[in-house]
Amino acid sequence: MKVDDIKLIGVMGGGVMGGGIAQSCIVAGFHVSIRDLNGELNEKTRETMIEGRFGLRGAVERGKLTQEQLDEALGNLSFTTNVEDLRDADLIIEAVPEDRELKKKVFAELDSAIKPEAVFATNTSGFAISDLNEAVSRKAQFIGMHFFSPAFVMRLIEIIYAPETSEDTIKLLEDVGEKIRKETVRVKDAPNAYGFVANRIYFAAVAEARKVMDEEIASVDDINKAMRFGFNWPAGPLEMVAGARKGWQ
Ligand SMILES: NC(=O)c1ccc[n+]([C@@H]2O[C@H](COP(=O)([O-])OP(=O)(O)OC[C@H]3O[C@@H](n4cnc5c(N)ncnc54)[C@H](O)[C@@H]3O)[C@@H](O)[C@H]2O)c1
Repeated sequence: MKVDDIKLIGVMGGGVMGGGIAQSCIVAGFHVSIRDLNGELNEKTRETMIEGRFGLRGAVERGKLTQEQLDEALGNLSFTTNVEDLRDADLIIEAVPEDRELKKKVFAELDSAIKPEAVFATNTSGFAISDLNEAVSRKAQFIGMHFFSPAFVMRLIEIIYAPETSEDTIKLLEDVGEKIRKETVRVKDAPNAYGFVANRIYFAAVAEARKVMDEEIASVDDINKAMRFGFNWPAGPLEMVAGARKGWQ
């Protein structure tokens, strides 16, 4: 399958990530159907995609999109609560909560519901692709597609391939990334490490920053300032993500 053959993208789970991923795809001209568990959740996702802090309305106000482009993008968007409605999707992007068993259950359900040629991508933050792909028979068409939050704004997608993932699938996802105006990096599945590339490096830096804080070598403000002015980080390691000062669960 080539990128221009993709007529419909199914997004499983329309939360923080699913909505942002869908925004990037509909603006680029892809038809997207989001599947969540009930109509209320779908309505909330739609609202956030349009009116939220990183929503499409704001993009128009900041001059990043025209009103016409917004209307066109919304014309590419639909919602459902029924997996069967995604059966003709060419690409599925899964963004349900980070629960390994839930993801495997969702992929097993998708494997029987969706046409066999379709490619399955997971937005997991770190589960092994070679573990999640056990839930499906189409292992050559199974891949990691890790976006960063907010997905509509952040430019990076990590593309994680398992030994079974075909080169065609990797290439297809790189082309999708280009079409939705993101930068992609190829990452080999590393089942013994959680977090792929960017998060592993980032969390290592945050852990070191917390050590420096605990040793009372410098104040929290000065640790953040050191990285902002020494390395041009947009924010310091102890302020970039909520929870960084207290440690990660
Ligand atoms: N939030 C982030 O910063 C971030 C960044 C990168 C990757 N991720 C990953 O993205 C994935 C989603 O995270 P999120 O923060 O968007 O979670 P979220 O809780 O905001 O959204 C998940 C959505 O999935 C829905 N859902 C649950 N079961 C479902 C099912 N069976 N079918 C369809 N929808 C279902 C939920 O109702 C919810 O709307 C996780 O794997 C997470 O690790 C998150």
